[in-house]
Amino acid sequence: MTVLQSILSTSDALVPRRTDKFSFGLWTVGWTGVDPFGVATRPALDPVEAVDRLAELGAYGLTFHDDDLFAFGSSDGQRRRAIDRLSAALNATGLVVPMVTTNLFTPPVFKDGGFTSNDRSVRRYALRKVLRNLDLAFEVGAQTFVLWGGREGSEYDSAKDVRSALERYREALDLLCQYVVDQGAGVRFAIEPKPNEPRGDILLPTVGHALAFIETLAHPEMVGVNPETGHEQMAGLNFMHGIAQALYSGKLFHIDLNGQRGIKYDQDLVFGHGDLINAFSLVDLLEHGGPDGTPAYDGPRHFDYKPSRTEDSEGVWTSAAANMRMYLLLRERAAAFRRDPAVQEAMEAAKVSELSRPTLAAGETYTDLLADPDSYENFDPAPYFGGKGCGFVALHQLAVEHLMGARR
Ligand code: GCO
Ligand code: MN
Ligand code: MN
Repeated sequence: MTVLQSILSTSDALVPRRTDKFSFGLWTVGWTGVDPFGVATRPALDPVEAVDRLAELGAYGLTFHDDDLFAFGSSDGQRRRAIDRLSAALNATGLVVPMVTTNLFTPPVFKDGGFTSNDRSVRRYALRKVLRNLDLAFEVGAQTFVLWGGREGSEYDSAKDVRSALERYREALDLLCQYVVDQGAGVRFAIEPKPNEPRGDILLPTVGHALAFIETLAHPEMVGVNPETGHEQMAGLNFMHGIAQALYSGKLFHIDLNGQRGIKYDQDLVFGHGDLINAFSLVDLLEHGGPDGTPAYDGPRHFDYKPSRTEDSEGVWTSAAANMRMYLLLRERAAAFRRDPAVQEAMEAAKVSELSRPTLAAGETYTDLLADPDSYENFDPAPYFGGKGCGFVALHQLAVEHLMGARR
């Protein structure tokens, strides 16, 4: 039995299904292992093979950058042939394209960015490239268009006027939204934050920066975020918290799941192969964070990982399957965590649900609060010294035990 077979042959709940909405970037399974220090360790992957293998493994979607499908600078004919070939494979397997994105980072012309390059003619060219790719997004029926501005940034503070760059970013987004509105298309945009790499500092480095920026746009309702596990963790942030705030703002339009171990380069490990406890909390939030424990997010579970360059061509599919299995294992364990009476008791003791109760009574004003002696004059803070522990550690221990399979 191969490793892949043993990953796949398992209980029903752990078999990926189309309804689980697992999707993969063509650039993920298609990564040949080229990094700044080494050449490829695997041959190029045919997009048709990617579609076939992903469909077989139980994924529902494939996503891509324009340049993943047809090389930068392709003629109209080459471009059309590549699109038609992909569409035929999609039709044959039933795989869909929930998201499309544009490469504004690889070709030399974008060395100082696309929308925010200091060079105005590059900015105009970048807009044209994205508009062309938006037409393709409409054609393949994508609902989301991701904007990852990896080159929108700087290494040298003296060389980038950040406020003007943000103005140009806004100008670009406003134009793109207007185009979608005028075409009568339902596509929404999702900004993908990242703190650095490839630029020394990237604009809109975290979920919070992106959420604030979106509010300055002409069509804020059409723009959300596509947070990536590793990107928030590269900034030392709690990914689950970022996702919770994106959900709070109604802005979780898409998600890039992967694994990252600490503040370093973007590792793009398999989902759950980094901070596993945070991955557990994340899946618990996505699956049980809605009203009455229902899912808080119903979009694609998109894996933006890289099959490590140590792996061979078969290892690509073993790692792709591992992403889905990790998600399903965490989903199973999160459900058991929620069901466990000991957990419910520990949550009660930790007053977890008390936080959803408004601090003021209905209609209560600050005058009423000032007039309430129980809130201050009669309230005794002393017992909080040495007493009234929060019980958070006991609750978290139960979470970790569920994660480890020590409780079911
Ligand atoms: C990265 C990013 C990219 C984007 C992709 C989609 O760090 O390279 O995560 O993989 O997700 O370009 O726009
Ligand atoms: Mn990344
Ligand atoms: Mn990503």
